[in-house]
Amino acid sequence: MRSKIVAGNWKMNKNLAETKALIADLVAKLPETNAEVMVAPTFVNLTNAVDGVKSSKIEVLAQNMHFAESGAYTGEISADMLINIGINTVILGHSERRAYFGETDDILAKKVKTALDKNLRVMFCFGEELEDRKSGNHFSLVESQLKNALFSLPESAWSNIVLAYEPVWAIGTGETASPEQAQEMHAFIRKTIADAYNAEVADNVSILYGGSVKPANAKEIFSKEDVDGGLIGGAALAADDFVAIINGI
Ligand code: PGA
Repeated sequence: MRSKIVAGNWKMNKNLAETKALIADLVAKLPETNAEVMVAPTFVNLTNAVDGVKSSKIEVLAQNMHFAESGAYTGEISADMLINIGINTVILGHSERRAYFGETDDILAKKVKTALDKNLRVMFCFGEELEDRKSGNHFSLVESQLKNALFSLPESAWSNIVLAYEPVWAIGTGETASPEQAQEMHAFIRKTIADAYNAEVADNVSILYGGSVKPANAKEIFSKEDVDGGLIGGAALAADDFVAIINGI
């Protein structure tokens, strides 16, 4: 059985005091839910966030990591460093990493492999640009992103992978994929995984939708059969909005 997940990607927002305050607010307001609830603050505040969620079921994620074990990679963070401070899951492949920091499918394949070898769970993000959708190329683009970064992995690796489909044109734009567009793509993703592996792997992987999910649209998007939750950016920065989105699952 795949799990339902609501994850907040805080990106480069919230200083230390704000991180502590938002974590405390979330812990206090967290509703009863069967869904996994996760938040991803910036690296420098991860330790404080991990401390802050201790009495709750909230999990703290990292937004990125390097593929190397250690060494001369100024400014980078390794898998072991994350594990050492109590992180179990890392977001990889976010479209902002791809667009602004040159992360290619090849780099992401290396990062995914390192994370899984270290027993970190991977939340793998992918999705098409607006031009891909306009030209009808979105299915093949998404298929190639999955294939290039993930399909060389052994079947056993998939129990530690969560997918987040995030159409780039819907991220931070206020424009959301319609629930039907999300469902159509999620069903395609599941079929692509079933073809590459088998139906069991495809059925067991959680596929989150991301891109302008808000309290007002979360419930309808989450109601779709193949949508197992959401990766939330802007609306995860206010406890009441994030809680309202959790209530939509
Ligand atoms: P958004 O961001 O909810 O602000 O569109 C989603 C994401 O980038 O994960």
